[in-house]
Amino acid sequence: MTSSPASGNALVVGLSKALLVSGVVFFLGIVLIPNARNCPSDLAHVGESEAGVAAAEAASTNMSHLIFGIVGSEGAWHNRKAYVESWWRPNVTRGHILLDKEPTGDLLPWSPQSPPYKISYNITEVVNKTKHVDARVARMVHGISEIVREAGEGVRWVVMGDDDSIFMVDNIVDLVAQYDHTKFFYIGGHSEFVLSNFWFSFNQAFGGAGIILSYPLAKALSDDIMGCLKRYSRFTSADKTTMSCVSDLGVNISPHSGFHQMDMRGDVSGFLSYHPNVPLMSLHHFDMADPIFPFTDRAESARRLMKPAELDQTRILQQAICYERRLRWSFSVSWGYSAQIYERIMPRSHLQNPIETFVKWRESSAPPFWMFDVRRRSGDPCEAPHFFFFKTVKKLAPPRDEIVTTYHRSWKRGMGPCSVGGNRSADQISKIQVFSPAERRLRNDRSECCSIEQVSKTRATIKLRSCKIDEVIA
Ligand SMILES: *[C@@H]1O[C@H](CO)[C@@H](O)[C@H](O)[C@H]1NC(C)=O
Ligand SMILES: *[C@@H]1O[C@H](CO)[C@@H](O)[C@H](O)[C@H]1NC(C)=O
Ligand SMILES: *[C@@H]1O[C@H](CO)[C@@H](O)[C@H](O)[C@H]1NC(C)=O
Ligand SMILES: *[C@@H]1O[C@H](CO)[C@@H](O)[C@H](O)[C@H]1NC(C)=O
Ligand SMILES: *[C@@H]1O[C@H](CO)[C@@H](O)[C@H](O)[C@H]1NC(C)=O
Repeated sequence: MTSSPASGNALVVGLSKALLVSGVVFFLGIVLIPNARNCPSDLAHVGESEAGVAAAEAASTNMSHLIFGIVGSEGAWHNRKAYVESWWRPNVTRGHILLDKEPTGDLLPWSPQSPPYKISYNITEVVNKTKHVDARVARMVHGISEIVREAGEGVRWVVMGDDDSIFMVDNIVDLVAQYDHTKFFYIGGHSEFVLSNFWFSFNQAFGGAGIILSYPLAKALSDDIMGCLKRYSRFTSADKTTMSCVSDLGVNISPHSGFHQMDMRGDVSGFLSYHPNVPLMSLHHFDMADPIFPFTDRAESARRLMKPAELDQTRILQQAICYERRLRWSFSVSWGYSAQIYERIMPRSHLQNPIETFVKWRESSAPPFWMFDVRRRSGDPCEAPHFFFFKTVKKLAPPRDEIVTTYHRSWKRGMGPCSVGGNRSADQISKIQVFSPAERRLRNDRSECCSIEQVSKTRATIKLRSCKIDEVIA
């Protein structure tokens, strides 16, 4: 990989590269395209437009342009490999897990469903040369240069993450495709826990949620990795060190709210059920929070969330709200994860706020805790939802171009009906079925709307759809 000219127009670069590198193959490719009209007099013209298509394909970023680097440890991998295997696509996602030492025991033979592993560079040597105070931090930061060194031809983005994180790789591709990979970009998210940002930095991408560096930036950082570790040899945070060295190259974070560091503990369902209208990029701290689905372990929870995500990552966790006006019920759906019924009509501005089911990261900290508005957990039947969790997903056969997800009640709400609301309790509803378009939802300015198709004694059916131009969700 050569470093691309900073002023390069991606399309022109892609086209001239294609012509230079594989002029003959390129030409054959044009001729052999089955649908090309092979009339000789037409050939030059067809060639031109096909060249345009090929150049556009070369220009647009896909999975093959990303390399992932996961910094883990042999000790933790026994337990954590299930999280990474839930999203890793063998032979499709590129990259490595860096281990501190050779795998042993049940890790052998190495699972083909896992990213291939590499052993970290001799950290004793790095520490000796940089006088770094924390070998663990030095290993993580140095790991960036080890991943960059492995990056083959065509890598445009380097994605660094932790071994207890889940990545939505299609959404990450869609995100980085909007940026110019020949420039210096540092993309990631803040922590949701106010004090984490204060303790470390409001300017840093939290590495558990993922740090994305354009290749030229990752290369520049790697070329000076020992200088970086020397300058910040007293830092005990790898993420802050990375941010500092990126800053020394003149680059600031491009924050994105789909990355979730998840500096929170306990039951995170109240956080995940009210996701804003942005594609989900990652979920970290899978090992610190309770399993995200009730009555399952963490590994099974990760696999369950990835089932709908395999069919449609663009909608995963995204919230849609709609109403059954006759019953005076509000419905909220977190696609692929959960659904709730409230026995009262409540506006979107209220229902978009997470219910504080989760607890703060550090026991001793004082408020404010969260970077977002929260609703308190409530014992009021007009405020507390009936909770349903994702159970099954199916893509319907054509001509129905739809995906159907179901959400099942996990427990009784244990409260009477809401007296100021409608005239019916939702206690009997055991299942919610949600139909969504099979088409991916890309770059949306508004959240999706929904309609209640049917409410029977025991189940409700909802259809996700685009909002009408002047639709008010209240
Ligand atoms: C990704 O883009 C490269 C060109 O940069 C192309 O050769 C490759 O076929 C594309 N892969 C997929 C899966 O579209
Ligand atoms: C990945 O590719 C290699 C070589 O091309 C092949 O041997 C292996 O079976 C593939 N692995 C999976 C899980 O598809
Ligand atoms: C790492 O480097 C040190 C010297 O800097 C050497 O003593 C040690 O044996 C090396 N460790 C490995 C595993 O190569
Ligand atoms: C550290 O590096 C110095 C040379 O710079 C060398 O003399 C010494 O043996 C090294 N120590 C270790 C523990 O590798
Ligand atoms: C109560 O429910 C019935 C039918 O289930 C409906 O006809 C009536 O309008 C409802 N009343 C109120 C106040 O919502």
